Amino acid sequence: MAWPQKTETVMSVTDLNVDFWVDGTMYPAAKNVSFEVRRGETLAIVGESGSGKSTSAMALLGLLPENSRTSGSVTLLGRELLGLKISELRQVRGKEIAFIFQEPMTALNPVYTVGFQIVEVLRTHFDISPADAKLRAIDLLAKVEMPDPTTSFRKFPHQLSGGQRQRAMIAMAISCDPVLLIADEPTTALDVTVQAEILDLLRSLRERLDSGIILITHDMGVVADMADRVVVMKDGVTVETGDTIDIFRSPKHAYTKSLLAAVPRLLTASEPPTAPLAAHEATATPALSFRDVAIEYPKRGRVPAFRAAEGITFDVYPGETVGLVGESGSGKTTLGRAAVGLLPVKEGTLEVVGVNITGARGKGLRPVRRKTGIVFQDPGSSLNPRWPIGESIGEPLYLAGEARGNELDRRVEELLRQVELPIGYRNRYP
Ligand SMILES: Nc1ncnc2c1ncn2[C@@H]1O[C@H](COP(=O)(O)OP(=O)(O)OP(=O)(O)O)[C@@H](O)[C@H]1O
Ligand SMILES: [Mg+2]
Repeated sequence: MAWPQKTETVMSVTDLNVDFWVDGTMYPAAKNVSFEVRRGETLAIVGESGSGKSTSAMALLGLLPENSRTSGSVTLLGRELLGLKISELRQVRGKEIAFIFQEPMTALNPVYTVGFQIVEVLRTHFDISPADAKLRAIDLLAKVEMPDPTTSFRKFPHQLSGGQRQRAMIAMAISCDPVLLIADEPTTALDVTVQAEILDLLRSLRERLDSGIILITHDMGVVADMADRVVVMKDGVTVETGDTIDIFRSPKHAYTKSLLAAVPRLLTASEPPTAPLAAHEATATPALSFRDVAIEYPKRGRVPAFRAAEGITFDVYPGETVGLVGESGSGKTTLGRAAVGLLPVKEGTLEVVGVNITGARGKGLRPVRRKTGIVFQDPGSSLNPRWPIGESIGEPLYLAGEARGNELDRRVEELLRQVELPIGYRNRYP
């Protein structure tokens, strides 16, 4: 019986090494990484944060910053890529190899419509008329299941939801029928329902384009769902590699085992939740208390006011974690914004550590600001790219008059330790 010929090797990586030059020292980020990707196959690279996944992927296309040094061999359909001139690499990027990033805004230009941007890519790589390029672009938007492709063609990135932006970027990425698609955490910033849709989309593209996919993720659930083969990385080294089925059935390396053990499972009736909810005293003051709260985005010009949440009642006690779940657009972030006083409360009462902030404005919110903190979906929007992270961490403490000088340094180091970042990272940029 003749098997479909899907064995052609698209990319072959041998002994890839990447080092970064930081403050006069070379730090290795990837050590002797080797793998192959074949047509129609998805290879997952998994590993914890900082293990060198993104660095290895960027190195394949010479996308790393100046302070890096790359060695080894990377071939695409037999042709060596390391050492190519920038002009030659540009031909490969976007055309033969396409990149999908975690945060679509890094690849989409906010000042142009998505349609214009796809047309640009098409006209850079193919000799086609603007009218034909437009038709192709709309067709691509339809392929990635963008709602109403003709209208979406004219939209700016900020007029799309996170999931739609990701679709627009994927449309751009596949516009030149790449032989290899590299997706770096393409769904981590999306909510679960949209995440599942995007993964479905990638799966159907793999079949339609017959290209190879490198999927970078730290989610073993996604690996099980998507990958044919897996490369497990830790501290820049490949600790294990093999077929997905084998790795899940019989992981060899302790680190792979720990990754698999961390996959959340649904509780069965015989299995009580591991940590019973902190039994809070009836007398304790909730850290946050919503009572029948309604929140509206105020009217702006001709855009009428929009009621994003109403009838919200819940308490969060000190030491408790409360999860807010719901699909995209259901108002989760809205409640978070209101809780720190970024949005006015239209109805009901909102208390933060016992202080009623329902009608508070400006100065009245100061005590709340000190007691609350937000961790955003996209850290890029809250860290100043021009400052070393140590300065970004210290700024709120300094502004609140909490610490100065040596004391401030000590507090910043303490905070880095708490989030398990090496102290030396205070001088690094995001
Ligand atoms: N421009 C840079 N300069 C110096 N060091 C860097 C640079 N970029 C990355 N590194 C370092 O290289 C190592 C690997 O980083 P990389 O971004 O590849 O990790 P990752 O596995 O993709 O992590 P995550 O899951 O968090 O995305 C880290 O120790 C990181 O601090
Ligand atoms: Mg990464």
